[in-house]
Amino acid sequence: MSISDTFTEAPSPLSAGQTGTAAKENTQETLVLVRPDDWHLHLRDGEVLRSVVGDSARQFGRAIIMPNLKPPVTTTADALAYHGRILAALQQAGVPTGRFQPLMTLYLTDHTSADEILRARDSGIVHGVKLYPAGATTNSDSGVTDLLGYCRAALEAMQACGMPLLVHGEVTDPDIDLFDREAVFIDRVMKPLRQAFPALKVVFEHITTADGVAYVREAPGPVAATITAHHLLYNRNALFKGGLRPHWYCLPVLKREHHRLALLEAATSGDGRFFLGTDSAPHPKGAKEQDCGCAGCYTAHHAMALYATAFESVGRLQHLEAFASLNGPAFYGLSPNADTLTLERIAQPVPDVLPLANTEVVPLAAGETLAWRVQAG
Ligand code: NCD
Ligand code: ZN
Repeated sequence: MSISDTFTEAPSPLSAGQTGTAAKENTQETLVLVRPDDWHLHLRDGEVLRSVVGDSARQFGRAIIMPNLKPPVTTTADALAYHGRILAALQQAGVPTGRFQPLMTLYLTDHTSADEILRARDSGIVHGVKLYPAGATTNSDSGVTDLLGYCRAALEAMQACGMPLLVHGEVTDPDIDLFDREAVFIDRVMKPLRQAFPALKVVFEHITTADGVAYVREAPGPVAATITAHHLLYNRNALFKGGLRPHWYCLPVLKREHHRLALLEAATSGDGRFFLGTDSAPHPKGAKEQDCGCAGCYTAHHAMALYATAFESVGRLQHLEAFASLNGPAFYGLSPNADTLTLERIAQPVPDVLPLANTEVVPLAAGETLAWRVQAG
């Protein structure tokens, strides 16, 4: 059975790294990387934040923190306050001061001013501004309704001061098929945006299609993309394997196998435009297992093992460090982390559930066994 056949049978691909031809040739037992960063992470707030923050800090040096709280983080003052709560949660989780740096973002609205962008830049803690098209995903009700109509002043200021725009790249028009929303977004929003603001740094977040890959590869100017572990490991069959599988439901939704293969090729190619963003998005078990379940996969707990599995499936572990640790800082104008992370080939069972405040979260690939784990320390 080929690797792609194995993956098409998702959601049980996690032994594929050991059975595929490429993986058999790779007998590496440990992998030492410059410490990776997560360029797209949902940490939430309050008790949930306290439950999850340690999972990211165990693996990553920094993370871009998504601003889609309720209410969203729309001002520098909000971002500073949220930054403080994350630092307090890190301390409570026993993470040494400075070990994990939250890189904050603002939530772009129709009303974000140029002054707010300058305040964000001057704060030193805000590293991006997130575009959620109104209604595109979880907590996006305050999102932008007309980017080039209402946000020109903010975009102008961002372009001038080098503040990246982080884009949830899906149109929300109900007439557009759910599986086509990223491709249509490229034509309707991305191209006009890039034409109007050619020097604006843009991160096309969590791309899920061959169209997204092709656009980012070929676009002139400062454009990059993050890719999640789940979009590298699973195609849309995972959502329906033997029944409806809510824990594989995220936005943008998993796509066809040929899209997964295009993402895997891009991520593992060493191309500096593609880097790691887990989009780890915890929701309580009960909020996903219901008649209208929430979108979001919880992957932070074993993110690096998932990415290693994906890279190993195509025999390209040698490019994991560029994707996870080097390309992101280069795009954001930051130095790579000074320390390292070691992955070791020791089987790691994924827990069925993890504690989440006073409830539980089901991590992605719960109950399966990963070939890699992060070395403690
Ligand atoms: C995210 C969430 O739960 O906040 N959900 C998801 O499916 N990825 C929102 C998002 O990033 O789209
Ligand atoms: Zn997200």
